[in-house]
Amino acid sequence: MAFIEFPKEIKWGVATASYQIEGAAFEDGRGASIWDTFSRTPGKIKNGDNGDIACDSYHRYEEDIQMMKELGIDIYRFSISWPRIFPTGTGEVNQAGLNYYHNLVDCLRANQIEPMCTLYHWDLPQVLQDQGGWANRETIEAFAHYAEQMFREFNGKITKWITINEPWCISFLSNFIGEHAPGNHDLQLATTISHHLLVAHGRAVTKFRSLGIKGIIGYAPNLEWFEPFSNKKEDIEACNRGMAWFIEWFMDPVFKGSYPEFLVEWFENKGVSLQIEDGDWDQINQTIDFIGINYYTGSVGRYKQGAELFDLEKIDIHYEKTDIGWNIYPQGFYKALKKLTSQYNRIPIYITENGACYNDGVLHGRVHDINRIKYLEQHLTSLKRAIDSGVNIKGYLTWSLLDNFEWAEGYDKRFGLVHIDFQTLRRTKKDSYFWYEKMIRHNGFHIGQ
Ligand code: BGC
Repeated sequence: MAFIEFPKEIKWGVATASYQIEGAAFEDGRGASIWDTFSRTPGKIKNGDNGDIACDSYHRYEEDIQMMKELGIDIYRFSISWPRIFPTGTGEVNQAGLNYYHNLVDCLRANQIEPMCTLYHWDLPQVLQDQGGWANRETIEAFAHYAEQMFREFNGKITKWITINEPWCISFLSNFIGEHAPGNHDLQLATTISHHLLVAHGRAVTKFRSLGIKGIIGYAPNLEWFEPFSNKKEDIEACNRGMAWFIEWFMDPVFKGSYPEFLVEWFENKGVSLQIEDGDWDQINQTIDFIGINYYTGSVGRYKQGAELFDLEKIDIHYEKTDIGWNIYPQGFYKALKKLTSQYNRIPIYITENGACYNDGVLHGRVHDINRIKYLEQHLTSLKRAIDSGVNIKGYLTWSLLDNFEWAEGYDKRFGLVHIDFQTLRRTKKDSYFWYEKMIRHNGFHIGQ
């Protein structure tokens, strides 16, 4: 069996997000977020689930950190719930909310786990949404203010920061496809929001630098790989457009100070006009210390006039899928990392999310999630191929520590290394947890063992 070994410097971790695990939705002065509203809108979330209790990590974070310690991780990525800090988005800080994150970070540090903090993982204060949400440029100012307060408060305690998680989901999935909060179906609105998110990201980076905050800052776009069906120019171009929607649209502005011209034309042909103001590019186009990449899936695609947004038809070739219906496509992970490296000057990369949905349950106190282990083996092997090909990988964080509130899928879809019984909130470590622990201890693994 081949042994896949990683360089000693690679940091290992797990990732979570506030609304998906914390619960305590109405405690200690937390304000409502767009996800509280969305999950109360009939038909939006499977089984009518919501994040009111979730994994109750707000109260059980010490138990969760103990499991992280036993897992042997170096880094824990979590997100701060903006409405816990500013219940109405701006104004007075809610001290109780702040205390929670101080306790969390102190506990992590006491266990030699480095915190990596995402400022925005989708729980926008509802009050800001009522004023137009991310379509309103005031929200950019509110975000910059919130970011500044967090930088000042946690300077030196949190040393790795991510401004925004998955801008594609916040803009297009939530405001054009309509699957996530607030659930709009408007391409112009979604495109405007994508631009505002980039400005908000840039405003936070500006604050970080001007305040001289210790540590590093990046942001975390998600991507999908599209493999052209053939080497016909039209297939290759269609796949490139599909990928650019995730990659170049959200990265060229940061690294190059412009949008990819070929996508601008596509959007304009669909009647979209870009809402760019003076000074935006200066904010957006600034050096960041790393990008966080979230990778789950890829597909084969080909040109088909009128298909989807970019004349791109995904072909379902019956590749194996995880329990959420996403193709298992580890070779796309390798290719995407190489693409990013060649396009963006060997930028340091943290894999801020990668993982699989499998819904295995508890049997005699164990969870035999062998498919998750296989998925991790395949993707970590792709990661090693990328490292050996010169990709500047700094760390890998799997999604997720715990089964949790999987957005529109509610509690129906499980991504955790640890099983949660959502009735009793009992935690059970899965086989994949033990596999990952061993992998971290040996800094590698034998394929298939
Ligand atoms: C998100 C997570 C989510 C995961 C699985 C990512 O899009 O950042 O919050 O749970 O994928 O769907």
